[in-house]
Amino acid sequence: MNKSELRKLIRQQRRSLSKAQRHNASRGLLRQLRSTPEYLAAKRVAVYLTNDGEIDTQWLIQDLQQRCKEIYLPVLHPLRKGHLTFIRYQKNTVMSRNRFGISEPSFRHNKALSARFIRLICLPLVAFDERGNRLGMGGGFYDRTLAFTHKKGHLPLLVGCAYDFQRISILPAESWDIPLKLIATDTSLYRLLNVSTTG
Ligand SMILES: Nc1ncnc2c1ncn2[C@@H]1O[C@H](COP(=O)(O)OP(=O)(O)OP(=O)(O)O)[C@@H](O)[C@H]1O
Ligand SMILES: [Mg+2]
Repeated sequence: MNKSELRKLIRQQRRSLSKAQRHNASRGLLRQLRSTPEYLAAKRVAVYLTNDGEIDTQWLIQDLQQRCKEIYLPVLHPLRKGHLTFIRYQKNTVMSRNRFGISEPSFRHNKALSARFIRLICLPLVAFDERGNRLGMGGGFYDRTLAFTHKKGHLPLLVGCAYDFQRISILPAESWDIPLKLIATDTSLYRLLNVSTTG
């Protein structure tokens, strides 16, 4: 199966889940993340708002709020084509829909924060394997934005969030693909080597 066939199949599977299944999986995802020292220690955490049947971050966001952590969301960078930047997400944050129909904080230049200043980034994904390879929606946005992590191993920690059924045995990795350090699913945690646990 090629990448686009795989995307189509898993996206269909993801969208076909019931409300109860989504709800339970969202709780499971939070349970897995909460069991890691990296999650507990991180003060700035980037998440995504669920789109296209991605595993729901609703409980995760609520937990981060209760722990008084700084929450950031990805925003399409208005100047750097194909890149994301991150903006703080709070109760009063003004939101708008981007050209993909995804809700994001309205861009304010003075509020945008580069990924390198965020301790832990939760990435949505379409498929993953146990070596940390990630298949996204195909835009290359996360790969471009996080390309700098090839050189600097310590910040940010990249955590893929998914349903466990999105795991496939071997995913073809392209030269530009940025690997994940941790993958949290509704039922499991997949940890790759050399992960630092400092805050
Ligand atoms: N660092 C980069 N510099 C330039 N182009 C890039 C870079 N990373 C990815 N791309 C381009 O983005 C396109 C899509 O990449 P890919 O198929 O890996 O997307 P994806 O990982 O599924 O998407 P995303 O990262 O948005 O979740 C590729 O054709 C590739 O040329
Ligand atoms: Mg990629």
